[in-house]
Amino acid sequence: MPKQKHIVSGIQPTGSLNIGTYLGGIRNFIRLQETYADHHFFIFIADFHSITLPIEKKVLRKKTKELAALYLASGLKQENLSLFIQSEIAAHAEMNYLLQCFTYVGELERMTQYKDKSQKASEGIPSSLLTYPVLQAADILLYDAAYVPVGEDQKQHLELTRDIARRINNRYGEFFAVPEPLIPEVGARIMSLTDPVKKMSKSDQNEKSRVNLLDPDNIIRKRIMSAVTDSEPTIRFDPLNKPGLSNLLAMFAALEEVGVETIVSRYEDKDYKTLKEDLTERLIAEIAPIRERYHELVDSEELERIFDEGGKRARTLAERKVAKLKEKIGLGRKRK
Ligand code: AMP
Ligand code: TRP
Repeated sequence: MPKQKHIVSGIQPTGSLNIGTYLGGIRNFIRLQETYADHHFFIFIADFHSITLPIEKKVLRKKTKELAALYLASGLKQENLSLFIQSEIAAHAEMNYLLQCFTYVGELERMTQYKDKSQKASEGIPSSLLTYPVLQAADILLYDAAYVPVGEDQKQHLELTRDIARRINNRYGEFFAVPEPLIPEVGARIMSLTDPVKKMSKSDQNEKSRVNLLDPDNIIRKRIMSAVTDSEPTIRFDPLNKPGLSNLLAMFAALEEVGVETIVSRYEDKDYKTLKEDLTERLIAEIAPIRERYHELVDSEELERIFDEGGKRARTLAERKVAKLKEKIGLGRKRK
């Protein structure tokens, strides 16, 4: 019997899930569940990753459930899925340590996300911020992921993961699957509504910069109608000169799952206001049902059960993989 292949991805329980994380992250998983129906999906709440920068205990707990409920509410199917919480599986931390022994400080210092985040750290840089991509590699390699769905910004971390996997394979013989990133083409990068040269981010202090999945309809309307555009009122896709407008077009295209030229030809004779109004309606149609289902799920027994079952399956695999690597390296007593 051919072994079932695995798809692995994590998302951090910080900030507010928004239309960028939805189009670039969550919805991608959902589509992939159809495309890769014969694969098993390990999707987890990356709470270990979230404590690399200070986070309030209450917020962390709340966001952990919120995120999982939003994934499920967005349409993630439970067949072929193990949804779990990273920190509930000790093997992630253990594998993280083992992989650190095969990763160079220079490689980590080159990561653009590290450079960005370490510059912003106010009271010294936690060492976990530097080793963050190693933990990510552990998350992926523990489950021998064939594919890892992520946004553009995670490409570099995936490259590092592949390097670490190959390094260990070269040294100990084929041990890890070398994972491929799966980066969506349309809407891979949704930009901020207030500063469209920056990525829409769930951690941006400015709430106006994004549409959150839990925003009520009137807020969604407000955010889109006041999104920054430009003063030359022609509708064309030109991210360099018209980043705000191009972002709205890209968002629309991603929602409709069509190429951006389809949206451009639909609106080229219309004004910005019409485009914004239609985009608002399209967004509300997408988000409102998700919000409703979310409220049913977030404090439910069903969610508890999903975490328990997902964690159980993931733990079994992860523990086995760590034990095998320790054996290869020569740690502990030889297994009989
Ligand atoms: P993060 O917010 O960094 O935890 O990202 C969660 C997932 O959504 C990752 O796959 C990101 O690459 C993706 N993502 C986050 N923000 C955006 C955005 N503005 N546009 C597209 N994808 C995004
Ligand atoms: N670093 C990822 C992000 O910020 C989240 C993440 C953690 C992840 N571990 C992962 C993504 C493993 C894919 C696979 O988006």
